[in-house]
Amino acid sequence: MARRPMMAANWKMNKLIREAEEYVKELLPKISSAEGVDVAIFAPFTSLLEVVRATRETPVLAGAQNFYYEDSGAFTGEVSAPMIEDVGAGAVIVGHSERREIFGETDDVVARKAARAVSAGLLPIVCVGETKEERDAGSMWEKVSGQVRVVFERVDAGGIRGEEIVFAYEPVWAIGTGETATPEDAQDAIGRIRGLLGEIGGESFAEQVRILYGGSIKPGNVDDIIAKEDVDGGLVGGASLEAASFAELVNGAAPDSSGGG
Ligand code: 13P
Repeated sequence: MARRPMMAANWKMNKLIREAEEYVKELLPKISSAEGVDVAIFAPFTSLLEVVRATRETPVLAGAQNFYYEDSGAFTGEVSAPMIEDVGAGAVIVGHSERREIFGETDDVVARKAARAVSAGLLPIVCVGETKEERDAGSMWEKVSGQVRVVFERVDAGGIRGEEIVFAYEPVWAIGTGETATPEDAQDAIGRIRGLLGEIGGESFAEQVRILYGGSIKPGNVDDIIAKEDVDGGLVGGASLEAASFAELVNGAAPDSSGGG
């Protein structure tokens, strides 16, 4: 069965509650005819409840951008999986490169978070990707494959369905830079990730897992990327901040549009 494409907005540290509400109000009618594509909005904790409320009874999935893998306790400043579920969100970004690089998240922490999200029934979007230096040094695959492998030290690929986890290939050099990976580079990395998932969890598992591309996606460049066979959609930062441009991306990713891959 074909994988269902996903277009996900990562708002990062943007939007007040009022802005979140206005955004969803503007977005929903603009994407009302997009069929066959999953839409997610990853909001800051402070506006997450508003996004949950505004998207209730719609197909739009509300998600958090981060959480901690323990369920409760003395972890000042952190939010747990049960708290995210309590708000009514259904997904969470795990291991975004900004969390890894700015906030020092290690591969093991990312793996623990991915495992806890899965066990809590939250859909984790696990981010992987190499830096410019790593790409230039020819070690893209060493980096990315290592990041993927370590997730399955904590997540039992044999014990879950492929639909229960999503990966996002986000080359760090393409994030917020305006420099997008070529469709060929995106397909190369994502195809290799799928191959590795096949080694880890078997062919049918690998065929079910959705793998998104992220990094300077815009309405003008997304079609050729998501048309590639292994690319199942996008995780979008800057171009998701305006409802109109995110709606364009969602509509372009719907399988019956010309852009859907
Ligand atoms: P940009 O789309 O702003 O490059 O951000 C990508 C990203 O990091 C999404 O998680």
